[in-house]
Order: sequence, then structure tokens, then C-alpha cells
Amino acid sequence: MKSVLFTRFFILLPWILIVIIMLDVDTRKPAPPLTPRPYFSPYAVGRGGARLPLRRGGPAHGTQKRNQSRPQPQPEPQLPTIYAITPTYSRPVQKAELTRLANTFRQVAQLHWILVEDAAARSELVSRFLARAGLPSTHLHVPTPRRYKRPGLPRATEQRNAGLAWLRQRHQHQRAQPGVLFFADDDNTYSLELFQEMRTTRKVSVWPVGLVGGRRYERPLVENGKVVGWYTGWRADRPFAIDMAGFAVSLQVILSNPKAVFKRRGSQPGMQESDFLKQITTVEELEPKANNCTKVLVWHTRTEKVNLANEPKYRLDTVKIEV
Ligand code: UGA
Ligand code: MN
Repeated sequence: MKSVLFTRFFILLPWILIVIIMLDVDTRKPAPPLTPRPYFSPYAVGRGGARLPLRRGGPAHGTQKRNQSRPQPQPEPQLPTIYAITPTYSRPVQKAELTRLANTFRQVAQLHWILVEDAAARSELVSRFLARAGLPSTHLHVPTPRRYKRPGLPRATEQRNAGLAWLRQRHQHQRAQPGVLFFADDDNTYSLELFQEMRTTRKVSVWPVGLVGGRRYERPLVENGKVVGWYTGWRADRPFAIDMAGFAVSLQVILSNPKAVFKRRGSQPGMQESDFLKQITTVEELEPKANNCTKVLVWHTRTEKVNLANEPKYRLDTVKIEV
């Protein structure tokens, strides 16, 4: 009798074990899928694939409904928009310059790029480039009259004025949103810190510029938080001895001085900045940035003229490539 019971037990044992294992597997949580960690991008992908810088604070759209009963986070004060006006003209290095600029600007929150072509029409190259740049932007154009395209004459006067006119027109009817304007030539080098500094401009702010004026840098001299003079090696008699890359102006100042523009008439080489700044501020009023103007955060680099001596005149490449 005992042996019969034993045999039955041993026959049933594997089945009992199988049932136990299956029950155990069923109740176990599924293993996490082996997917890579999500790639962190500081940009949100907007409609149409445009990459927009994430706005600070505030819940995302999808989560808004679910969280309605929870206390809402206080919205942060609005970040002033930085408007960067860039004059640009067609030449072999243009796309390379614009690429470098876009790579910098894309990392700056709330920046609007006003790109002004020195041309009779918007070029295909720049239009295509801007469409893919992933930046809030405005594409303008105005040609420099032929008589002003001469060495020794100021450059980009008409283009900067076109940018100013666009800004004034855009803010014509609404109360001015907080904003800061900055003239960003396409061949300079910009540190990201520079944008943090200029963002707090109340009227007109200034800072040093590297590799300019025949020196390693030029800078405003500051005493007790006020600009009292200029460290420069070139035309020290300039009322504002500063490069175009060395200052920013609040949108409010641009709007309340509607006649302030860059002038061709009577403008001497190197005096564009002074002629413009004289119309909107005084040296005493300037706000020194970059640690009382002791840090270089922008460089007047200038790109070397490219050597195309071996470009073929005939027997061209079989494909047409945009450079
Ligand atoms: C210096 C200053 O840094 C400029 O801000 C100033 O406009 C210029 O002198 C001047 O002489 O007017 P520099 O490096 O000599 O700069 O000038 P560029 O960089 O050749 O030109 C300044 C800006 O104007 C650039 O963004 C450039 O793309 C644009 N530009 C230049 C045009 O739109 N059209 C031109 O024919 C030449
Ligand atoms: Mn330049």
C-alpha cells in the first residue's frame, strides 16, 4: 500500500511543480524592456519639426488637465527676448559663418534672429538655411547701393536699419514686451555667457570686445560702476570707442527713439557705433556688464579670405553642391 502511494506521489510531483512554476511566472512583474535611456535634448520639437527652446516653468500641455486639482507652479517672470540683428552677404564662407552663428544662438533661450541679407532678394541658400536652423527668425533683405560698396566705407548700414524698422513695426501697436537688441555680425564669435549678461540690459549696456582695434581687446573703463573712458588703440577720440559687438539696447529705448538709425551721410569710418549711440544715450548712462567690463565674451574674429585659386572654370563637378 505504502509503495503504491509513493509511486503515485512521484508521478504527480512533476505536474505539481509545473503548476507552481507557471503560477509564479504569471504573478511576476514583466521585466523592463531593454530600451536605451531617452536622449536628453534641450529643445522641444515643435510643429513642422521646428526645434524650439523649452520655455522655463509651467507644465507641459499634456499634463495640464491631470494636474488641475494640484497647486499650479507660479509662472516665472517673462524672460526678455533677445533680438539679434545680423547683416549678411553672399560669399564663399557665408553658409559656414551662418552655421556657426546658428549653433550658438540655438543654445540661447528666447532669442529671435533677424537675418538681413545685403541683396535685392532673399537668396535660396539663406532661405533654405533658415528653414532648417531651428530658431525663431525673421528673414529680411535690402541691397547696399552700389556707390556705398567701396573699401573704407561703413558696411551693413542699410541692413541694420532694416532690422530696426522691422522691430519698430512689429511692436507698433502693442505695449512693448521686454526685449533687448544686439547687433551680431556674422563673422564674430559669441560666448553663451554674453547673452546672460545682455539679457538684463535696462537701457544700453556695454562690455569688452576681443581682437579688435589693433589690440587683443578694447573695453570700456569703469569706475564705481560707471563708464569713465575707453581702453582702445584706435581713434580714442570716438565718443563711444566701442565695436558694434560691444553693446546692447533695450527694446524700450529703440521704440522711444523712433528716429535713431545708422546714417550714411557724414559718417566716417569707425564712427557708426558712436553716431548711433549718441542718438539714444550718454556715456554716463551706460550699464557696464561682464564683471565691470573685465571679461571678454565676444571676439571680432573675422574670417580669412578663402583661397579658391584652384576652382575649375570648365570640367566642373558632375553634381551641383551648395557650400
Ligand atoms: C567692423 C565692425 O565690427 C562692423 O560692425 C562694421 O559694420 C564694419 O567694421 C564697418 O566697417 O562698417 P568688419 O569685420 O570690418 O567689422 O566688417 P564685416 O564683418 O565685413 O561686416 C560687418 C557685417 O556686415 C557682417 O555681418 C557682414 O556680413 C555684413 N556685410 C559686410 C554686408 O552685409 N555687406 C557687405 O558688403 C559687407
Ligand atoms: Mn567682421
